[in-house]
Amino acid sequence: MANQLLKGKKGIIFGALDQESIAWKTAEAVHAEGGEIVLTNAPVAMRMGAINELGEKINAPIIPADATQLEDLDALVTQAMAHFGGKLDFVLHSIGMSINVRKGKHYTDLNHEWLTKGWDVSAVSFHKLMQTLYKKDAMNEWGSIIALSYIAAQRTFPNYNDMADNKAYLESIARSFGYFFGKDKKVRVNTISQSPTLTTAGKGVKGLDGFLNYAEKTAPLGNATAEDCAAYTVMMFSDYSRKVTLQNLFHDGGFSFVGVSQEVIDALGAGSE
Ligand SMILES: NC(=O)c1ccc[n+]([C@@H]2O[C@H](COP(=O)([O-])OP(=O)(O)OC[C@H]3O[C@@H](n4cnc5c(N)ncnc54)[C@H](O)[C@@H]3O)[C@@H](O)[C@H]2O)c1
Repeated sequence: MANQLLKGKKGIIFGALDQESIAWKTAEAVHAEGGEIVLTNAPVAMRMGAINELGEKINAPIIPADATQLEDLDALVTQAMAHFGGKLDFVLHSIGMSINVRKGKHYTDLNHEWLTKGWDVSAVSFHKLMQTLYKKDAMNEWGSIIALSYIAAQRTFPNYNDMADNKAYLESIARSFGYFFGKDKKVRVNTISQSPTLTTAGKGVKGLDGFLNYAEKTAPLGNATAEDCAAYTVMMFSDYSRKVTLQNLFHDGGFSFVGVSQEVIDALGAGSE
């Protein structure tokens, strides 16, 4: 499948924790298309060790950074630019975390300190990242910045909890910052709203299997896998999407625009007649 679509392009990928991570699959796909990568993750995630394996495989240096810390982001971008000997063409923000989700707190009984932490990690970190890139003039013209989102930003999913609000905020930051990045630097900013996917973050959501099956039976093309998401992100980093910006791009096999599917009707029974 590789066509060297990203030959000569350089960028940073956040969030590869293990082989299931969407960021892991994306790093592999970007590498296969000729892109050069700096990998990063939170220092605590580094200790789990798996990212080193990916770094070796795709010949990418790994620079730890907590995405909520401006100093870490500043050092990361400085070091990445020094490594590449110039500016960046793409950045993937593939970061999400809710302590309320992790600890099974119900949405009607949230711990608001945990909410604030999850909001900072999952949404505000995207602003901090883009502000760092913008101020350091780190992006080449026609560069592409992507963050990953979920449809719970627009529709209610009872167990997605405070992550739904974090994703709504994340998508809004993409539009707000994307305006200035477009006007001032000719850089595009979009979010990709991905199908439910079995990753460490995904598995933390109560009842994910139920969501996953429901989405699979609803979407005319079935759920998009992490590999599908990686391929879509490659296209969004390539020169074939230069005028796409400020969008939340549903990448979900059509799930977002289906009312109900015949499979779901059949699964619920034929009715009373
Ligand atoms: N899995 C799904 O069902 C699904 C669906 C739609 C969108 N997404 C989104 O995709 C993105 C990637 O998640 P994933 O499913 O690949 O799970 P994952 O658990 O593999 O990735 C989440 C990453 O966030 C990183 N992270 C957490 N706190 C951080 C911090 N302070 N600084 C830097 N990095 C930090 C983790 O170390 C991890 O690598 C997230 O934004 C997630 O919300 C996931």
